[in-house]
Amino acid sequence: MADIEKREFLLFDNKSFPVAEAIKAARTNLMFITAKDECPVISFTSSHMGEGKSTVCANMALAFAEAGFKTLIIDADMRKPAINKYFKIKSSPGLSDILGGLVKENFIYPTKYKNLHVLPSGTIPPNPSELLTSERMTLLLSELRNTLDYIFIDTPPILIVTDALAISDKVTGTVLAVRQNYSRTNLIKDAVDAINKVNGKFLGFIFNDYNIEAMSYNKQYRYGKNGYKYERYGGYDNKPVTPPVNLDND
Ligand SMILES: Nc1ncnc2c1ncn2[C@@H]1O[C@H](COP(=O)(O)OP(=O)(O)OP(=O)(O)O)[C@@H](O)[C@H]1O
Ligand SMILES: [Mg+2]
Repeated sequence: MADIEKREFLLFDNKSFPVAEAIKAARTNLMFITAKDECPVISFTSSHMGEGKSTVCANMALAFAEAGFKTLIIDADMRKPAINKYFKIKSSPGLSDILGGLVKENFIYPTKYKNLHVLPSGTIPPNPSELLTSERMTLLLSELRNTLDYIFIDTPPILIVTDALAISDKVTGTVLAVRQNYSRTNLIKDAVDAINKVNGKFLGFIFNDYNIEAMSYNKQYRYGKNGYKYERYGGYDNKPVTPPVNLDND
């Protein structure tokens, strides 16, 4: 993804052709690697703050909705909600209120986009990780899975709080957002290790904020299942990720 200037950037509002193509290519790969699930639940995280988790999550969900799939975004970043801003809805009541037993109804909001709904993060609670590991969260997801095609979950950074790991056993898999000239390779490795350690399924990276000018057309997008081969580029150091970094198998 590249050339995103404003926070509420959404693919089909912006209509930047290369960005749209990159997101659609990521959509296709995600469909293949989650195909065995009736309703895949895909969580988005990153090693640190500001790498583009929420932007990538919102845009991927929109790409699936645009393709005709009944899609829900759950904002599970109860500490720093963002998804509601993209769709101009309020952040509560929402997930935390449902998981805390404060409300009976599932507060799922329609968006102006066909097939796309949002469950916002809800009232900021003192115990997000606890709520996310709860049996109520498991029940909520299995209930939602019955009526949807895809569920996307935005979460906080994996190396800062445990929230993303707290749901890793409840989701089909986890995608890591990596940002050009910002994300650090040693921290990306730590994030992947953290997912593996709790037996979560690491689905791959989405390489965000690419410098499109610098890349040939077919290299603007990076997404790969077994994706990190930083050794070729100097090992797991703490340098910012800069193209060309081969995050693919090819
Ligand atoms: N590809 C991009 N091009 C330009 N700006 C971007 C891009 N991706 C994200 N941003 C901007 O960077 C900021 C952080 O992005 P975003 O909120 O998606 O990151 P995040 O990883 O969810 O952050 P947090 O850790 O705070 O939840 C936002 O202001 C967003 O608009
Ligand atoms: Mg975010």
